[in-house]
Amino acid sequence: MWKRVNKSMVGVDIGSSSIKAVELQGKNGDFQLVSLGYEPLEPDSVVDGQIMELNSVSNAIANIFTEHKIKTTRVAAGVNGHSVIVKNIVLPQMSSDELKESFAWHAEEHIPFDISDVNLDYHVTGDSDDAIHVLMAACKRDKIANLKQAIQLAGKQPAVIDVDAFALQNCYELNYAPQPGQVVALLNIGASTTNINILNGERSVFTRDASFGGNQYTSLLQKELGLTFEQAEQVKRGMPLPVGIEDREIAPILETVSDILALEVQKTMDFYRATVEDGSSAVERLLVSGGGSKLAGLMEFLSKQFDIPVEVFDPFRKIKIDSRGFDPEYMRDIVPEMAIAVGLALRGVDAR
Ligand SMILES: Nc1ncnc2c1ncn2[C@@H]1O[C@H](COP(=O)(O)OP(=O)(O)OP(=O)(O)O)[C@@H](O)[C@H]1O
Ligand SMILES: [Mg+2]
Repeated sequence: MWKRVNKSMVGVDIGSSSIKAVELQGKNGDFQLVSLGYEPLEPDSVVDGQIMELNSVSNAIANIFTEHKIKTTRVAAGVNGHSVIVKNIVLPQMSSDELKESFAWHAEEHIPFDISDVNLDYHVTGDSDDAIHVLMAACKRDKIANLKQAIQLAGKQPAVIDVDAFALQNCYELNYAPQPGQVVALLNIGASTTNINILNGERSVFTRDASFGGNQYTSLLQKELGLTFEQAEQVKRGMPLPVGIEDREIAPILETVSDILALEVQKTMDFYRATVEDGSSAVERLLVSGGGSKLAGLMEFLSKQFDIPVEVFDPFRKIKIDSRGFDPEYMRDIVPEMAIAVGLALRGVDAR
């Protein structure tokens, strides 16, 4: 899953509410945005990262390529959710050949699925006299097959399958050039999943996908105020309220859900604190992306909860965008949603 392929590729992020596509060009950190596409999906087209409606998803992918005249057919896509297991494991010192031979055997105890049903990958992150530290990623084969099928049905070539949390990390490394020792939590709040990746410098120390997302705000608004999904979405985004609904009713509902998010983040930070050796490196900063990050007041809420700086993640911080080709106002609005697609697109260019 981790090989860097220096061939033109489009990052296609298939989310549960929409598909995002990004194409970049350039090298050595001098990147330029070539194409950017966004196509909404019908609810339930994608459930827990599983593509349920293959035809509508592949049509949406094909539409993006047609509409934005994207010629590149190679695609980098990502997996997330319960079928993906990412873990830092410590193994006894051995040669790289021995590691390759025995990795599946070592990994087995960390994977709650049959080992023959998963695709395995690993990356050595540290080496000492008697141990090697390995970051392991496993994903159910049927999930990868499902993703590849949607891409192929759209007439494109699934060239790279990454893990969403790593794509997010790649995007962060390019844009923020973190120093070793800087502990930052990346939070990508989607419609149904929140990817959390805690990094020390460029090393992922803990990652987890929480079953939390913007949909939870929408469904509580629907339930409490008797609204349709569309109405609740509008209310959540701060649009004019439907007749009979009062402004003061909204904030407490939103806050109930933000409390759930804060609990998820706290839980992840606690897991992380329990796994670090010296226990001293607390998370210094939160960088938040995903459509869910656009909820009014959320950044302030999280900053107050955790008493650390919380910022909106900018996936294009170090990427040039020509304002003649991309409307700055549209870009400002859509940027938070693009973090994973940018991270995936980076797999197709030489990011070092
Ligand atoms: N202005 C806004 N205010 C609040 N929420 C918003 C706003 N704009 C978008 N959202 C929410 O962001 C979510 C979509 O975000 P995103 O596109 O990152 O999700 P996704 O990638 O489709 O989903 P997932 O990754 O969870 O499968 C939706 O719940 C949507 O309602
Ligand atoms: Mg998403």
